[in-house]
Amino acid sequence: MQENITLLTGKRILLGVTGSIACYKAVDLASKLTQAGAQVDVIMTRAAQQFVTPLTFQAVTGRAVYTDMWQTDAAGSLPTHIAHVGLAEGADLLAVIPATADTLARLAHGLANDLLAVTALAVRCPLLVAPAMDGTMYSHPAVQANLATLRSRGAWIVEPEEGRFASGLTGRGRLPETPTLMGAIRQALGAQGVLAGRRMVVTAGGTREPLDPVRYLTNRSSGKQGYAVAQAALDAGAAVTLITSARGLPAPVGAEIVDVETAAEMHDAVLEQVDRADALVMVAAIADFRPRTKAANKIKKSELDQNAPTIELERTADILAAVKDQRARTGYPLVAVGFAAESQELLSYARDKIARKGVDLLVANDISATDAGFDVDTNRVILLRADGTQETLPLTSKALVGEAIVERVAGLLDSR
Ligand code: CTP
Repeated sequence: MQENITLLTGKRILLGVTGSIACYKAVDLASKLTQAGAQVDVIMTRAAQQFVTPLTFQAVTGRAVYTDMWQTDAAGSLPTHIAHVGLAEGADLLAVIPATADTLARLAHGLANDLLAVTALAVRCPLLVAPAMDGTMYSHPAVQANLATLRSRGAWIVEPEEGRFASGLTGRGRLPETPTLMGAIRQALGAQGVLAGRRMVVTAGGTREPLDPVRYLTNRSSGKQGYAVAQAALDAGAAVTLITSARGLPAPVGAEIVDVETAAEMHDAVLEQVDRADALVMVAAIADFRPRTKAANKIKKSELDQNAPTIELERTADILAAVKDQRARTGYPLVAVGFAAESQELLSYARDKIARKGVDLLVANDISATDAGFDVDTNRVILLRADGTQETLPLTSKALVGEAIVERVAGLLDSR
């Protein structure tokens, strides 16, 4: 089941659905937004109703669906009974998904000839459009000019994807899938959040230290907590760079992704990125030791007689310690956050790490618990500040731990 999403909870989203075969995807989106806690009011054009019925959206949102400019809100679920004014009043976002070429033209030129168009003129919230049409139509100068007009007015445009159309042709113009659309909506809703105008670097995943071309040493980190911190920072309006050695997790929409493998690659990427960053959150589980040498070819047991190879290890560089030195010279990042994964004496080891690593905040978790830490979706952490204060968060989702960290980082940045 889709989890509640803090940013979406209680938000009023107007979902404008227009006449494209991609309408079926808007049904899933409306359902996921509702499950995440948003109040979704769907406005359908006449053409959209050729593909999906209003009842479908009504069933997944549990709310009335609006189709007619002359319709009044008899049910009284809107702030006023005049539909377009009631819909517009207090809306947090108008998302037109999918947006046809015709709708883009009408929005760009300010027409007011159906309920969606007139509502678009009445809203004061941001507008997001996700174009969906055949590739030749999408690349037509008229469509591109309309998109440029909307963009110049501050609209959020969700770039369509390349792929196969219902027509059988291929090209750019496909509506992205629900997770991408949800991510774009989160970006639009979070843009003015507590980290607006801030740049945050987040690291995630366990590094992989090669022994030979097929084998490596790694650890149990899944990357989930790091990705959750990155998503929470995006939800708070930050520009986010996610330096990751995790694989197989969906990239948070809007984050700049830097893929790395080893501790050495992560070291270089972090030192380069933090130069202009307001905050660094080091969630990654970086290898402390790596094989001293990497064999150029696969180590063959047939060549080892009956013996097993002896692997000699060497220390990797401590990235946070290097950041501490760089920060002393450059002043960046303004705020540094570390994690401490401990299996014993959590607090005393963690306190010691704050000073050694030069961080403003340390997130300590006890990895010996089965319901927290590696691989699971929940975590139980203690937040320790350099000033000696600490707070314990109860067992909760990694998403909420991410939000708590982002909130504390925003506080640290503001108090500087
Ligand atoms: N870290 C780092 N560079 C390393 C290892 C860890 O920057 N080579 C960071 C981690 O991303 C984390 C913090 O340091 O934010 C603490 O990591 P942890 O593994 O708990 O500590 P260690 O430095 O490995 O110390 P110890 O071996 O004493 O636990």
